[in-house]
Amino acid sequence: MIDGKKTMLSGMQSTGMITLGNYLGALKNWVNLADEEDIKCFYGIMDLHSITVRQDPTELKKNARRLMLLYIAAGLDPEKNCLFFQSHVPAHPQLAWILNCFTYMGEMNRMTQFKDKSAKHADNINTGLFTYPVLMAADILLYQADLVPVGKDQMQHLEITRDIATRFNGIYGDVFTIPDAYIGKSGARVMSLQDPEKKMSKSDENPNASIFLLDDKDTIMRKFKRAVTDSEGMIAYRDEQPGVRNLIDIYNAVTGHTVEETLKEFEGQGYGTLKEAVGEAVATELAPLQARYAELEKDKEFVNRVMKENAEQASYYANKTLRKVMKKVGFIEMPR
Ligand code: TRP
Repeated sequence: MIDGKKTMLSGMQSTGMITLGNYLGALKNWVNLADEEDIKCFYGIMDLHSITVRQDPTELKKNARRLMLLYIAAGLDPEKNCLFFQSHVPAHPQLAWILNCFTYMGEMNRMTQFKDKSAKHADNINTGLFTYPVLMAADILLYQADLVPVGKDQMQHLEITRDIATRFNGIYGDVFTIPDAYIGKSGARVMSLQDPEKKMSKSDENPNASIFLLDDKDTIMRKFKRAVTDSEGMIAYRDEQPGVRNLIDIYNAVTGHTVEETLKEFEGQGYGTLKEAVGEAVATELAPLQARYAELEKDKEFVNRVMKENAEQASYYANKTLRKVMKKVGFIEMPR
């Protein structure tokens, strides 16, 4: 809770270009939420998390800035929501250090994302990658978040956050709000267009597997045209046809139609028709976002002001919690 309001925090790493999956699964939900409910929302660009995997500095910078612009372009109003870069708020790594000392090796060892990522980056299994969930716990606990919209893959990290917070509160009294997961209304899970058994990912090596938010219409149409389906030749919504099901899911997430409505709409039609309709729907959905993005790119002054003011706001709330924690732990306050 902050100022008597329910508080929500979420974020994305500033690695690569975000996809239609990130948009429909997270960003779009955030926008609906911010409009609908009387909640104080914090959305971070988690650039500190990004460097658990080696990054090119120029690329990292480009990606982080682009993500901020995409948050705004997607409809997160920076006057209402606090949109900030994690690296602009030193309280994050400060609290993470303290929480590291309240987290067990065994707990981190169990994290499935750590296992997956260390298999994928076997040449760089750094301790940052290992303690990644502790930094994420700090992100959440600093803002006393009641709600955290996360996907399935981050649920384990949210659970460990709750465990760490409960442990800390058990020792020092009620310092942290224990956060709950927030499952959004649509929460679409978008799969790869080339391998519909796999989640659409921004780090996929095959560029045809993912729709990126700034893809132009031709690219979007082409990628859907090439989307992997099956040889059944019938539009149906079932496990045996994951490619077609994914197309239907995407179509519905964008248009708001139900499965029944969509099956009816495309009854007796071929995959080509469905692919074209999905491509059109997605391109139409993304067009205003892309236009707004292009405007923001030109308005440096506005973006800089947003970055500065929101970082200050985030720091204000984060430092409040951090000071409380430091006092509880027993650090000497700096004399003024
Ligand atoms: N780990 C999250 C992801 O990769 C990103 C993230 C970092 C996050 N800190 C967070 C999400 C705090 C929610 C809350 O998707």
